[in-house]
Amino acid sequence: MTRRDQLEVRVLDAFRAAYGSEPEMLAVAPGRVNLIGEHTDYNDGFVLPCAIDYETIIAARRSNGGQISILACDQNAETDQFDPAQPFVAQKQEWKNHVRGVLASFRQRSLPVSGMEIAVSGNVPQGAGLSSSASLSVALAKLCSEQLAPGTLSPTDLAQIAQQSENDFVGTACGIMDQLASARATSGNALQIDCRSLDVKAVAVPTDLGLLVIHSGITRGLVDSAYNERRAQCELAAQHYGVSALRDLTIDQLKANRAGLDDVSYRRARHVVTENARVLEASKALENGDIAKLSQLMAQSHASMRDDFEITLPAIDELVAMVAAVLEESGGVRMTGGGFGGCIVVLAKRDRLDDVHAVAERDYRAPDGTKAQIFACQPSSGAALLEL
Ligand code: GLA
Repeated sequence: MTRRDQLEVRVLDAFRAAYGSEPEMLAVAPGRVNLIGEHTDYNDGFVLPCAIDYETIIAARRSNGGQISILACDQNAETDQFDPAQPFVAQKQEWKNHVRGVLASFRQRSLPVSGMEIAVSGNVPQGAGLSSSASLSVALAKLCSEQLAPGTLSPTDLAQIAQQSENDFVGTACGIMDQLASARATSGNALQIDCRSLDVKAVAVPTDLGLLVIHSGITRGLVDSAYNERRAQCELAAQHYGVSALRDLTIDQLKANRAGLDDVSYRRARHVVTENARVLEASKALENGDIAKLSQLMAQSHASMRDDFEITLPAIDELVAMVAAVLEESGGVRMTGGGFGGCIVVLAKRDRLDDVHAVAERDYRAPDGTKAQIFACQPSSGAALLEL
């Protein structure tokens, strides 16, 4: 059985047991790993994520009772129930807010929200920076759009609904990258996103390259406060330079008009400006099969996150250095996601992946002794309905 088959069986069994009937619809949406372009999305810049074959599946059926009932298979089979006609009230448990938040975004767009029975299960590692919550929100947005308002929402709408839920209901000030990757990626490709226009371009991942995500064993902590602080520093720098977002700043302007900007904000801006340029170069390198160039760009991205944006941790720097020493020019490695723990991403010639595996398992330990956890991933496609 494939990983997806297992997940499907789990969610279908749970649905039947909870509601005593068959679901009418099954929707899936993936997590994502970002190849390059970190903390550029909320600066209107460029990103290059891949959807991965770790995902959330949701089964649902319209209910006559008028209530919305949800069973979360991965949260100790916790349940939630609320009235779609009443205001949605935030709950203590975050998973409940992801569900209510998506429905609140539907309602805000004057889309119909009515009674449903829902079961959810996913296999995206949580707290790893692989966007388990985007995968849940986008899967739910896909399901609700097909069930409640068929034919009215584009994949970009689904991503925006999911992002609005995070921003306004869950209370996380994230950008649009994770949700767009989960909604719009295509199989075998990375997705270059212009986070201002929301134009996307599929960039084929050469078939001789393999994708690994390695979890450092360090759960991401203090993420929200550090993330918000970085956003504020970027906004401050944009104001200093008189641009609406750092996307609009060139390297030359960055250097020439530096006077009066504090060193920290300057370095934050330098990360964003140089990272945007690296995303565009990395897309070209992938298109040309220039793996040595990709390797260089990912190394520069990591150094910039470490020295200018200051979102890596010493143990993660070590893990990246270990893998880089094995790969040399045969692939790229860098920390991926928001930072302060979580995962590194490796995109490298397939014949080097066993050595990467071996070194990460043998030589890496998190500060508390935890071993690296390695996930082999396929660049996958975005949200979809599954056949029942
Ligand atoms: C988190 C956010 C994204 C993005 C990344 C950093 O994953 O959800 O919007 O800002 O951090 O690149």
